[in-house]
Amino acid sequence: MIILITGTRTGIGKALATHFLDGGHQVVGCSRRRPTIDHPNYRHHEVDLTDSKGIKSMCRAIRAEYGHLDAVVNNAGISNMNHFMMTPEEVARRIFDVNFFAVLNCCRETVKLLQKSKEPAPAILNVSTVAVPWALEGQLIYSASKSAVDQLTRVMSKELADFNVRVNGIGLPPVHTVLTRTVAKEKIDEVIARQTIRRMCTMEDIVGPVEFLVSRQSGFVTGETLFLGGVN
Ligand SMILES: NC(=O)c1ccc[n+]([C@@H]2O[C@H](COP(=O)([O-])OP(=O)(O)OC[C@H]3O[C@@H](n4cnc5c(N)ncnc54)[C@H](OP(=O)(O)O)[C@@H]3O)[C@@H](O)[C@H]2O)c1
Repeated sequence: MIILITGTRTGIGKALATHFLDGGHQVVGCSRRRPTIDHPNYRHHEVDLTDSKGIKSMCRAIRAEYGHLDAVVNNAGISNMNHFMMTPEEVARRIFDVNFFAVLNCCRETVKLLQKSKEPAPAILNVSTVAVPWALEGQLIYSASKSAVDQLTRVMSKELADFNVRVNGIGLPPVHTVLTRTVAKEKIDEVIARQTIRRMCTMEDIVGPVEFLVSRQSGFVTGETLFLGGVN
């Protein structure tokens, strides 16, 4: 499988890229800064996903080298854990630019490559968060941007059904990464206490569901966001 994963320099994106490379797949990754993965089956693009021209030129390079994509994981994202009264407008707009508009633009460009896949059910997977169903305090802008992504998942799954491209999401609870580095332990413990499975989510918890959602095993699943850890 040839899979594009955004935001592979650190955290969840890097763990996913490493997992798919270990499984013998071809991985294309990207981030604003230099790659941290060195593998013969890995290609890295230094691109700011808020620059739509950058996304287009990355897709041109993918087309030139591979001709198609089998799966896309929209993982790159940023957050800002702060009361909305303390969040300047430009910060809020930047969060939407990265978390929503970059995903929208990435989908628009990569669909053309997914359509050329020989897989029976090529897939897009969008990374979301439990902050959406739980409307977590202090995460208004972040959860609103991911809420928009969840809606994108639902509507786009219908708009792309005739293109034979599936669109799903994965909603994550807290995971130890750069993104959560500055969040107070008590805040993370509060979220974990709400989960049905009351422990920190690990990379091992994520890779299986992601692999399922981008593979032919989930060929009849679309428009769903799967929340890990139990949110009910
Ligand atoms: N960690 C958690 O607890 C948690 C929980 C729920 C959901 N999530 C979601 O999981 C995803 C990954 O988060 P993470 O925790 O792994 O965060 P992370 O370690 O900060 O990784 C984010 C990645 O995205 C890249 N990135 C950020 N802005 C970018 C841009 N404008 N253009 C291109 N690449 C960009 C970063 O690389 P550069 O800095 O080099 O650009 C980095 O590789 C995010 O969508 C996040 O919302 C995380």
